[in-house]
Amino acid sequence: MVKITVIDRHERKHELDAPTDMNMNMMELCKAYELPVKGTCGGMALCSSCHMYILSETELPEMSEEEEDMLDQAFFVEDNSRLGCQLRLTDELDGMVVKLAPESED
Ligand code: FES
Repeated sequence: MVKITVIDRHERKHELDAPTDMNMNMMELCKAYELPVKGTCGGMALCSSCHMYILSETELPEMSEEEEDMLDQAFFVEDNSRLGCQLRLTDELDGMVVKLAPESED
C-alpha cells in the first residue's frame, strides 16, 4: 500500500491508499475512490480522459509511444502531463502528488 495525493478540479486534496498488489493504475485508483476520472477507453491510452499532472518529483517510468501520441492530441498538455491509465501503482509512487487535468470535450 502506498499513499498518493490527488488534487481534484476544485483544488480539493484527496489522500488515497493505493494498493500495489492488484495490478491497478492511477486511472483505476481514481475511479475506485469516485474521483471524476472517466477512463473512457478503459486504459488503452486512446482517450486522454485520465490526463493528470504530476506535481511531485516522483520518478516515473518512461512514456510509451502510445501515451506520447495520445498526449500530443490532448488539450491542456503541460510538461508534467501523464495519462493515469499508463501509470501502474508501484512502491515507487509512494508520496506522489497529482492534479487532475481539466476535462476536454471528448
Ligand atoms: S483511460 Fe483512456 S487514455 Fe487513459
